[in-house]
Amino acid sequence: MTSTIETRGHGKVEPSTQGHSVVFPDGFIWGAATASYQIEGAAREDGRGPSIWDTFARTPGRVADGHTGDVACDHYHRYREDVGLMAGLGLGVYRFSTAWPRIVPDGSGPVNPRGLDFYDKLVDELLGAGITPYVTLYHWDLPQNLEDRGGWANRDTAYRFGDYAQAVHARLGDRVRTWTTLNEPWVSAFLGYCSGVHAPGRQSEADAFKASHHLLLAHGLAAQALTGELALTLNLAPVVTPAQALDPAAEISDVDREAVDRIDALLNRQFIDPALRGTYPPEVLEIAARHGGLDHIKDGDLAIINQPIDLLGINYYNPCIVEAAPGTPANEAYPGSEGIGFASLDVPSTAMGWPIIPSGLSSLLVRLSQDYPEVGLIVTENGAAFDDVVVGDRVPDADRVAYLDGHLRAAHAAIEAGADLRGYLVWSLLDNFEWAEGYHLRFGIVRVDYGTQRRLLKDSALWYRGVIQRNGIA
Ligand code: NOJ
Repeated sequence: MTSTIETRGHGKVEPSTQGHSVVFPDGFIWGAATASYQIEGAAREDGRGPSIWDTFARTPGRVADGHTGDVACDHYHRYREDVGLMAGLGLGVYRFSTAWPRIVPDGSGPVNPRGLDFYDKLVDELLGAGITPYVTLYHWDLPQNLEDRGGWANRDTAYRFGDYAQAVHARLGDRVRTWTTLNEPWVSAFLGYCSGVHAPGRQSEADAFKASHHLLLAHGLAAQALTGELALTLNLAPVVTPAQALDPAAEISDVDREAVDRIDALLNRQFIDPALRGTYPPEVLEIAARHGGLDHIKDGDLAIINQPIDLLGINYYNPCIVEAAPGTPANEAYPGSEGIGFASLDVPSTAMGWPIIPSGLSSLLVRLSQDYPEVGLIVTENGAAFDDVVVGDRVPDADRVAYLDGHLRAAHAAIEAGADLRGYLVWSLLDNFEWAEGYHLRFGIVRVDYGTQRRLLKDSALWYRGVIQRNGIA
């Protein structure tokens, strides 16, 4: 069970910086993001094979109300309309993912040209509208056939990913310049194979550490196969105590420091360090050794993983708040976290229940630029789910506007403090399939009516259009 320490009574919220206008550096990249399984639908069309998310979503009890991605936003058929929306908002970049099971339906073996055709047309449509495509090669829809052979816990999956990356690059590489190998490998490994709340829904600490390593290996192999501007997107979060979440200058005890460092190693450095430095944090090796051993890490793997990349993509939603809590069992998604409590704070939160703490984005960006100056930074996801209400033909989502406003100001503050932040992509362009939560949680700046597939610009979309136009916040 997840242990939760309620830290009530602080009552302090983020200091508001609203009201001051901010301008971003010339050339700052503005965009929005989505992912294949979350928006495409057309789950059985044009030769697409099944993915672990098809299987998981169709398994009773796994996804809220039995929702699946079978239809989703029907983007597969409506991509022209959706690109039109993007153009109307003035997006410079659109980040989307290619579905491996469309392109290599069995995960290995023949490439399905009809699967590639869809992305070919999408890329052309984007370029025609003056929008730069950013392709993510893996946003969690592993071909089911590979899962049947062990999934990410099987080393071979990494090599199959390298082949798939090459096939996509061969078809789109003449027009797509910016490539992201993986989206949030921590989530794939530890929610997919450890806590089991995501596909494939397995619960094995040993398999999760194997999956994590093989995902990193897949990143390295794909990076070797790609040319252009290369990126890896991670779900990174500052790890802080409850007191530090409210006041970064707060004192920290030795036991809390140890708790913070251990979770930082598992969540953040487990992925950044191998990719950017070719090393694993010692804490991670020590914990993995106790959960199945380290035999899956072969000589030479870290050199493959440590490919030069241009951009580190950061998906930020909230800080990770922990403190020493002797006797607490390990959190299901963090093997080795015994004695650590995951805290919640009495601050405003989103419909996901995630605390709204924009300053966490500033501190994260500044720290990354200080610790890893060799790589440029881009926020590849930031955004919020709220219980939107439709009023006539409007969605007055002031809470989402405030969330985005606060986080953009935080991003700007980080740039002023020296962070090498190149751009910001909002999550998400459209309301979509929010994984285990199904369609209940809406992250879009564009509302999707799932009954009619009608799109409606929320107030946040109109606000974001203004931000892009003036390259800042009024
Ligand atoms: C990160 C994931 O990449 C994305 O797929 C998801 O919808 C958002 N977080 C919100 O949970």
